[in-house]
Amino acid sequence: MDLIDKLKILNDTDRAILFAVRDNKSYLDEISEASGINLTSLSNSSRKLMELGLIKTMHKVDISYRLTETGRRYAQSGLPEYIVGKFISETGKASFNNIKVQGLDQKEINAALGILKKIKAIRYDNDAIKIDKEILSKIEQKSSLLNRTKDYDDLDQEELSEFMNRKLIEREEKTRTLIETTEEGRKAYNLKELSTNKVDNLTPDVIKNWENIEFREYQLDSKPPMPVYGKKHITKCFISRIRDILVSMGFSEMQSGYVEAAFWNFDVMMFRQDHPDRDIQDTLYVEGGKADIKKDLISSVKKVYETGFSDGRYNKSLGYGLRFDEKKSYQLIMRGHTTATTFRYIADVISKDKDKPYKFFSVSKVFRNETPDATHLPEFYQIEGVVYDDDLSVADLISYSKEFYKRMGIENIRFKPTYNPYTEPSLEIQAYSTELDRWIEVGNSGVFRQETLAPFGIKKNIIAWGFGLDRMLALILGLSDIRVLYGAFSDIDILRSVPTNKIFKGLD
Ligand code: PHE
Repeated sequence: MDLIDKLKILNDTDRAILFAVRDNKSYLDEISEASGINLTSLSNSSRKLMELGLIKTMHKVDISYRLTETGRRYAQSGLPEYIVGKFISETGKASFNNIKVQGLDQKEINAALGILKKIKAIRYDNDAIKIDKEILSKIEQKSSLLNRTKDYDDLDQEELSEFMNRKLIEREEKTRTLIETTEEGRKAYNLKELSTNKVDNLTPDVIKNWENIEFREYQLDSKPPMPVYGKKHITKCFISRIRDILVSMGFSEMQSGYVEAAFWNFDVMMFRQDHPDRDIQDTLYVEGGKADIKKDLISSVKKVYETGFSDGRYNKSLGYGLRFDEKKSYQLIMRGHTTATTFRYIADVISKDKDKPYKFFSVSKVFRNETPDATHLPEFYQIEGVVYDDDLSVADLISYSKEFYKRMGIENIRFKPTYNPYTEPSLEIQAYSTELDRWIEVGNSGVFRQETLAPFGIKKNIIAWGFGLDRMLALILGLSDIRVLYGAFSDIDILRSVPTNKIFKGLD
């Protein structure tokens, strides 16, 4: 866009900024004061001018000190230790119990006495209190320091920190924006298109006098700058890509919610009720509320948990031999894995018609009480998959995982035996990260144990997995830290500059 076109799309506020910084840099708040235009409109305009390359902005943090409410009170009356000291000095006969000073309550008087004692300004002579006049005059000087109108930052460091510790003075930080024209912006001053005598802002007055006013024309053919904000977050694009892949592999999506019963998240999967994952350190509990779960379902899970089961094939399943506490099943939590949803589908769909094959997936959030670091987040996405059919085995599990990761563009994966209370065998999936120069865990999978399926009368094998979405995204983007993608640590430049290749459907 050339300079003339840029000038044509400027409004009055944009122009006011350009004129204000014509000869000198200016702070946005000063421009606001001088022009009467509010700071929000000026900030919006300055962003636009910056995107057009007409100005540069810099941010500066101004630190100032000012009196707190108590500070203001003491600035008028004097510091309590001064007032109390003066009272002692003037009455000559003060004793611990008869000090009465206007404006100070007993607590303040006691605190003042404490200070006077500490700096050895007073001593107790039998019942009477004696004051050292010299120290008192020093206190008077200090007290008068509070009574200035401003410039508390001129106080020496010791006094300033004492007043701050006593919460009489507080520090205020203000971020100010300094504006300067760019070289291109400076060229604008010689062009008539910058002149402001045409009106582009319709107000009631302008409408009343429209016949005498020259309006700025609309530039219907000029292209506004392409906004770089308002872009879909890369994770959303990534999710739609994953959905497409799984749907193309014959899976249908499960519906699910974030708040889950401990029963579906743990019990049904034969997590021991004292399993460390249930600990408050790993699981986020939801206060109050109680899940709605069928009693007879809890009883069948309880039975397998306590004493095992036998269906003629697995007659050696003995259960944990521990007592199962139904009360724990009703507790609400933020679900820690989407396998909770898988088990709801096993209960509500698969077990209702066991002759049909099923393939389900979900891409949804899970929550763990975890401190964020390069590979962990307290809130992250899982890609859950579950397959029910005749004669499924670990070989099927491996080939589904390989196929999925291949379609995501990740070929370098390996499988490692692991342990889950609810699968046997269990396989951890690892992918190689060149950024971190090591193998990282990207998923976990397995064949559900018959104990977890017995309460639903299911005898066929079910294979399932949970893949971590955020780590895979970081891997593909070559990021060494997932926090770059979200929240306070996110890197807006990376988020904006993500390539529009086929992995990230929906970006363009
Ligand atoms: N729920 C497991 C996890 O959160 C993943 C998984 C799903 C493992 C299904 C086995 C079977 O890590």
